[in-house]
Formats: sequence, structure tokens, C-alpha cells
Amino acid sequence: MADNGKILVVDDEPIVLRSCEKILTSEGYSIALASGGQEAINVLQKDDYDLVITDLKMPGVDGIDLIKWLRNSKPATGVVVITGHPSQETIKDALNLGIIDYLPKPFTPPVLIDVTSKAMKITMVRALPEKSPEEADVESKTADLEKIIAENRNRPGSLIPVLQQAQGLIGYLPPSVQRHIAKGLNIPVSEVHGVVSFYSFFTMKPKGKHSVKVCLGTACYVKRAEEIIEKLKATLNIDVGEVTKDRKFSLESVRCLGACGLAPVVVIDHNTHASVDPVKTPEILKEYE
Ligand code: FES
Repeated sequence: MADNGKILVVDDEPIVLRSCEKILTSEGYSIALASGGQEAINVLQKDDYDLVITDLKMPGVDGIDLIKWLRNSKPATGVVVITGHPSQETIKDALNLGIIDYLPKPFTPPVLIDVTSKAMKITMVRALPEKSPEEADVESKTADLEKIIAENRNRPGSLIPVLQQAQGLIGYLPPSVQRHIAKGLNIPVSEVHGVVSFYSFFTMKPKGKHSVKVCLGTACYVKRAEEIIEKLKATLNIDVGEVTKDRKFSLESVRCLGACGLAPVVVIDHNTHASVDPVKTPEILKEYE
């Protein structure tokens, strides 16, 4: 099955093309062939390939011209060059153009397979979208999460303690973490999700370093709590439920906090700010810079 990636092999020697096709097809790659640089450009204009393996010395449009064209038109495509007598200068030119590796002629099937598989891996990693800071953050804590799960696995009623510790570790409980916990505790994801959604102290959204909660209960509302929210949204440049780009603040609206005598109330982390003046709201944030 040809699902290991798409490769275009370019060489003016038919024997090289046929050998590469035979060897790489048997390794699960989908192979197309071109007998020169111009033919390769024509093929690449119609279709995308993960990797181009090209001879450097060819009549007409040569390997270096082809690589220059690729860098401008298809920069994500990986390139491996085939070279007869790798002169320092030619290889230097090719390396400067960002090739991944080179194959000195004559090469054996194991060398071709090895170089191709390494180059394909590099190309695939380059093509992956960058991880969001949140995803990278969660991944970096996987080992600690595993530890929490392992310590609680055989205890009855372990789900809530595991969720509390996981939230303490990561800051929130995104779907990937909930799936991880469900698998680790051998329970359905729906059960984990049900508990996370039911208890208000669990959150599925990332929190900033400082959590800003504005009470929108009746007593606070009549004392201009909505103006406070608007002011905070404008100052932090985020909406309710979001985190600032520098991940310093997250903004939430909450129902009555049981401190109606102090309305309007804003709680930042564990500090209650009473009788907040909407106009002066941004000044409170300065205490948390
Ligand atoms: S309504 Fe805001 S504290 Fe009660």
C-alpha cells in the first residue's frame, strides 16, 4: 500500500529512475518519475509531492535550477539530491538551498531506503502545523499526569481527586486530558466529561496567570457590573471566557458571589475587590502586573 508519502524522482538516466521506482514502491511510497528538470517542473505544477529526489547534473534545466524553482514555488517540499561526483562546490550550492540530504552514485538499495525514510520524516515534521502554546504545555506535563493517574488508579472514587490534581497541574481540563484520564482509569469519556461539566470548579478552558471574575448577579448588575466587564474586555483586549495573548489574565463572568453588600464585586485570584468603580477598573489590574 503506497501511503508512506509521495516522491518525485528526477534523473536523466532511465536505469536510475527504474531502480528507484522499484525499490521505493516496495517500501510503500507513491512514486512519479521525470527524466529532466523541466519535465519535473511540469509534473510539480500539476501535483504536490512530499519529497523530490533529483539528480544534480542534467541537460537543460539541471538539479540546482529545479531546487531553486522548488524553493520559490513549493517551499514545503523536501529535497534529496543524487550526485555522481559530489564536488564540494555543487553540494555547497545545494545545501545552501536547503536540501535535506544527498545520495552519492552508485548507491545501494539500503542506502536509498535509509536516506529516503529519514528525509521523509524531516519533511513531514516541517509540514506539521506549529503546536499552540496550550497544546505544547499539556504535552509537556503528560508524564506527571500519568503519575497522578497511576497513583489513584485502584482507589474507589478516584475520578474527582484525579481531575482536581490534573487541573492543579495543567490549569484546566481540555478534551485531550479528559480522554487521557478516561483511558487511564478505564472509564468512559462521557463519565469524565459529565463530572467536569457538572462541577463549576472544573474548567475546560485555559486560565491566565491571574483569573479575573466579575460578578453579574443582580446586586452587582444594578451597580454597573456590565460596564466593568466592558472596560476589562477593552483593556485586556479579550472577550469573556478568553485568556490574554501573554496568558497573564483570563476573564470570566460569574453569578452572585454571596457578597452583595460589597457590590459591584470583582475577584482576582483570591482577592475580592469591593465597590469597584467601572472607570477605575484598569487600575486594579496594575496590582497584578
Ligand atoms: S450579586 Fe454580586 S455578590 Fe451578589
